[in-house]
Amino acid sequence: MTERSSSLPPGLVLRRASAKDIWSIRKLVLSEKLDPTQVRWQQFWVIASEAHMVACGQLRNFTGAQELSSLVVVPAWRKRGLGTFLAKHLIQEATLPLYLECLGQELAMFYTHLGFVPVSWQDLPQSLKFKFGLTKVGKLLRIPVVIMQYQRLPR
Ligand SMILES: CC(C)(COP(=O)(O)OP(=O)(O)OC[C@H]1O[C@@H](n2cnc3c(N)ncnc32)[C@H](O)[C@@H]1OP(=O)(O)O)[C@@H](O)C(=O)NCCC(=O)NCCS
Repeated sequence: MTERSSSLPPGLVLRRASAKDIWSIRKLVLSEKLDPTQVRWQQFWVIASEAHMVACGQLRNFTGAQELSSLVVVPAWRKRGLGTFLAKHLIQEATLPLYLECLGQELAMFYTHLGFVPVSWQDLPQSLKFKFGLTKVGKLLRIPVVIMQYQRLPR
């Protein structure tokens, strides 16, 4: 992966979401067919200009664990480091063991570069086993769902 900038392009800021962001967040999440049922703006961070939201992502809280989810960058801004920037921020904000699930090995590589490693469903904290239970169904349906845990940032 190419070296990513440690700062945002001019005009964009990283900030906590506020109540007025909810429809922009829902739009981003739905545009990528991600789970729209657990979208609570209080858990989100966004990257935005004054006019538009260009990226969002959230940390969901479970007993003894957190989940990084709903990470989306609008297509026009992809491959410019924003996804990495926001994911790194969410990792820094996390205070408990951090997990995620993603679709496909290629996307898993994106998270591997951020310090995540694949884990098995059996090794998940109990609180996440139910949430990620659909993964087992996904495997049955041969959908390549990958569950990952944050370990460390690679050198
Ligand atoms: C995944 C996503 C957030 C990455 O955002 P981004 O701003 O493009 O990411 P960055 O610019 O920081 O990094 C891009 C790198 O990640 C990799 N990457 C990003 N998305 C990828 C995907 N869907 N599949 C495979 N590789 C991907 C690319 O290989 C790229 O590396 P390269 O430039 O060396 O080729 C963005 O592609 C997106 O919104 N995808 C749709 C929603 C989604 O799938 N979210 C993840 C839910 S688990």
